[in-house]
Amino acid sequence: MRTLTGITPSGSVHIGNYFGAMRPAIEAQARGDCFYFIADYHSMTGGFDAAERRRNTLGVAVDWLACGLDPHTSVFWRQSDVPEVCELNWMIGTLTPMGLLERAHSYKDKTAKGLSPNFGLFAYPVLMAADILLYDTHVVPVGQDQKQHLEMTRDIAIKFNQTYGETFVIPEAQIREDVAVVPGLDGMKMSKSYGNTLELFGDEKVLRKRVMSIVMDSRTPAEPKPDADRNLAIQLLKLVAPADVSADFEQRLRTGGLGYGDLKKALFEHYWNYFAAARAKRVELLANLDYVEGALHEGAARARAVASVVLKRARKACGLE
Ligand code: TRP
Repeated sequence: MRTLTGITPSGSVHIGNYFGAMRPAIEAQARGDCFYFIADYHSMTGGFDAAERRRNTLGVAVDWLACGLDPHTSVFWRQSDVPEVCELNWMIGTLTPMGLLERAHSYKDKTAKGLSPNFGLFAYPVLMAADILLYDTHVVPVGQDQKQHLEMTRDIAIKFNQTYGETFVIPEAQIREDVAVVPGLDGMKMSKSYGNTLELFGDEKVLRKRVMSIVMDSRTPAEPKPDADRNLAIQLLKLVAPADVSADFEQRLRTGGLGYGDLKKALFEHYWNYFAAARAKRVELLANLDYVEGALHEGAARARAVASVVLKRARKACGLE
């Protein structure tokens, strides 16, 4: 059973990305046959700075490798290193009704937010379908926001199979509901667009400040807090500290006597330790970017071995060969 997912190269990763997507993807490696790629073609639909794209693509590769993505166990590559996906994009694009794309939430959301409605942005779901179908993917773990894209992928694959004969595996979405929704530093969902993130990597002083800036209410330390489980720092602590430690802090907050400053200090220490190994690995990788490039190229060669078989099958099915 093959699992595949695309990673958007959007600059620095935060703990919401980590607990929501990275950790589950890294744990899935133990179950085998994982295909992970960096969606640099997709990044072109909304970002037009070449140097930034190059930096973000390599940066996200470094971050994932630092967090435990194993490029030997998994197939890990840069989307544009297997440009065959563009040919498949065309083939399935001709079977994608305009109406289907017009109903896409993400297109409507993005243009409503001011992104220019270019052809690539409109066709984003088709390229995403090509990503998935090109590798005979069975399962695609994605966030709730990508659910509609997966439904479109299935519709397109079914239509292709009906039109040209059995060609594609029909993939299943695996919507991440069981994983932690990480609250941001303001209590809303952690998201780059809300500016409420806690980065995985960065300057210690800056990050300590971020943690200490988490807004709490004005109750005195001595006051008992029966709602301790809803405290933002406690919720974050539960992610990065051993269960008995976070339970102890929660209890002390509930009973009264624990100040918010001390709680946030503890949160910072546990968060900092939690990512210590990844941080060290990242420093190593940054000093050895040739290794990172090499790993991506090797990954692309392994990805291509699968892609070329599927593409040939598709080309034959629709009469190009
Ligand atoms: N659209 C996905 C996102 O924004 C990224 C992506 C591109 C993707 N191609 C994919 C995810 C294929 C899963 C499968 O997160």
